[in-house]
Amino acid sequence: MTEMYVPPGGPPQGPPPSREILQTLGEPYIRKLLQEHYSQLEKSAIRGMFPEDMTEAADRSADFFVQLLGGPPYFSQKYGPPRMRARHMPFAITEAAREIWLGCFKRAMDSLEFPANYREEFERFLVEFSAWMVNRR
Ligand code: HEM
Repeated sequence: MTEMYVPPGGPPQGPPPSREILQTLGEPYIRKLLQEHYSQLEKSAIRGMFPEDMTEAADRSADFFVQLLGGPPYFSQKYGPPRMRARHMPFAITEAAREIWLGCFKRAMDSLEFPANYREEFERFLVEFSAWMVNRR
């Protein structure tokens, strides 16, 4: 049950989503998107995995996404190397939890009208990266 699981696909191989996404949407939009993702998580079946203060959690995630999209390296400056799979290891992330997480992100994108021309690329990143966060069967 608690045995660690390593996804056979290995670490994500693709490039990060293009910098144009951040340049076009701006940092405040990315922060709002992560707040909305966490407010979706708050209403989800995996709410119990997350800390009580979802606003702070959303801010940490936004720091990561702004950095990933080519903005200032907020996440590394505040918390050190991303090492996302390792940081997620204390949480039991199954494929089922991943699907709920992805659903929350997609609803956040819907509700903030994430531009259609960037959506496929951004979602591809989320799908690939989240596969690598799965750490339990
Ligand atoms: C694209 C995939 C993902 C990215 C980019 C991502 C990003 C992050 C970041 C930046 C943090 C904050 C880390 C920290 O404060 O040290 C975090 C925390 C966390 N993530 Fe993820 N994550 C992803 C997938 C998932 C999935 C699939 C789950 C569970 C289904 C998950 C559950 C959590 C939990 C429980 C935390 C700790 C609480 C929190 O700070 O929100 N993550 N994630």
